[in-house]
Amino acid sequence: MKTTPPANLGWLNLPNLPWPLKALFTGYLLVIGVGLCMAGLQIMLTHGMADGKVGLSKNDIVYSYYGDRTHSKLESKLNGSMKANAPDAVRADIIQWVRKGAPKEAWDAHYKDVFAQNCVVCHSALPGIPNFKNFEEVQKVAATSEGATIQSLTRVSHIHLFGISFIFFFIGFIFSFAVNVPKALKVTAIAFPFAFLIIDILSWWLTKLSPNFAWLTIIGGIGYSLASSYMWFISMYQMYILSRNGKVYGNAWEQDL
Ligand code: HEC
Repeated sequence: MKTTPPANLGWLNLPNLPWPLKALFTGYLLVIGVGLCMAGLQIMLTHGMADGKVGLSKNDIVYSYYGDRTHSKLESKLNGSMKANAPDAVRADIIQWVRKGAPKEAWDAHYKDVFAQNCVVCHSALPGIPNFKNFEEVQKVAATSEGATIQSLTRVSHIHLFGISFIFFFIGFIFSFAVNVPKALKVTAIAFPFAFLIIDILSWWLTKLSPNFAWLTIIGGIGYSLASSYMWFISMYQMYILSRNGKVYGNAWEQDL
């Protein structure tokens, strides 16, 4: 059954919205826009560098959630920023020990002296770096990474689900007043971010189980970024550019395209 739009709701569309509502919607969209850019930057700075290279890649996601179960921090540092601090033979020797799980007996018998000769000058004197006179501190950096913990995943998951769905709710709500957008496209654009948010969060958990799921995280992120950017730009465009032609569009919710 079709209802005819009540004449007094003819202003209910983005171009003809009353100014107080435009101010409200614009304020929200601007702040959210800056927020989304900050979120993107934060992802680049925290996860983007996880594999040691600039820029977000599938490996960064694997390192963040699944971890790097073959390489310890000790091994990667010995091949990275600590490379110059020991001759190749010594580094190879330490790495071999680390890959065996850094057993205590071998530490007492041999590696204690190796570290004392090559590392302890700094790693016992400089503040803020581990003290390699203590076996426990060596053990910590010799451990392989298991990626994100279940605790951190549950914490970040629920914060994301509650927080981000609010953002999508309001962007979708504002966009629902857009005119001249075919109904199927409108409904899809509004629903997409929620679906991709679920995919994104699910993918963190799946990636924790197996690195093969890391690409789902990328698809989820790209999916909701595109859908919400689309709604953001159409909404701003209609409130400020399309409104200039002075046309009266009628109730956007009743439009049948
Ligand atoms: C000249 C001083 C110096 C020497 C010698 C040195 N280190 Fe370091 N090490 C540092 C500094 C400074 C950092 C912190 C910056 C960084 O991570 O590159 C660091 C960081 C590390 C880290 C990372 C610690 C963490 O928790 O982030 C590891 C692992 C490490 N060093 C291992 C070694 C080993 C093994 C040796 C001996 C073969 C060694 N270092 C010799 C100065 C030194």
